[in-house]
Amino acid sequence: MAGDLEKTELVMLTPGDFEEVAQLIERHFLKRNPLNIAANETSAECFGDSFGLRIKSSLESGFCVGAREKTTKKMVGLKLASVGRVDQLCTRDTERLRGKSVGCRILAMINVDAEMFQHVTSVLFLLYVCVHPRYCGRGLARMMVQKVMEMGRDRGIEAMFVQATNTLSARIYTRLGFETVKSLDLSTIADEMGLDLSLIPQEETIIKLMLKR
Ligand SMILES: CC(C)(COP(=O)(O)OP(=O)(O)OC[C@H]1O[C@@H](n2cnc3c(N)ncnc32)[C@H](O)[C@@H]1OP(=O)(O)O)[C@@H](O)C(=O)NCCC(=O)NCCS
Repeated sequence: MAGDLEKTELVMLTPGDFEEVAQLIERHFLKRNPLNIAANETSAECFGDSFGLRIKSSLESGFCVGAREKTTKKMVGLKLASVGRVDQLCTRDTERLRGKSVGCRILAMINVDAEMFQHVTSVLFLLYVCVHPRYCGRGLARMMVQKVMEMGRDRGIEAMFVQATNTLSARIYTRLGFETVKSLDLSTIADEMGLDLSLIPQEETIIKLMLKR
């Protein structure tokens, strides 16, 4: 049965939330995100240590928001983000290209580069948004993204970017003022990367690098 949004509250996520966050991402992001499905990478173990390390470092950044049911305190949604310098973000993506995960190698193909952030030093990288199916379609993902963006602006962040791998999330970012600066059609690299596109809807094959300054 669908959940009532008024029964949820937004909370700041901290490193103490790690176990719950990792579980929600595994159940409700990796198993539902089209790129992970097509790459057959729907469990945390596909990513080795990098899965946990990435979540931990973003929880430490102080820019992560979750949604909990008010009565049970159960986590039903989350939006993670990491803050970094432009040069660090570009290096990280080069490292991803060397990694074994197909999904990470594909995301590295629509990578940020220093030219996109001229005169900008601190950038917020938005990653992982997911909502428990019971609470989907009620604006929860948008509320969490908005909250993270507000925190970014309040703390002087000059630019934000996201790699949108699903049409609903791309729609949220577009409505919040993000612009697409690069896109990649998975059908052009499916054979080379061993993707099974028959597992995902046809309209879910475009992934986008989106920026907000
Ligand atoms: C993508 C996801 C986070 C969206 O969460 P959500 O809370 O349902 O999103 P919202 O309710 O804020 O809706 C965002 C937009 O999608 C629309 N939408 C949501 N669910 C929809 C549905 N089932 N059908 C059509 N439109 C839908 C909303 O109307 C809204 O559009 P609008 O701003 O034009 O009105 C959620 O579906 C999810 O967890 N998916 C699995 C993980 C994933 O793929 N994450 C994104 C990877 S980048």
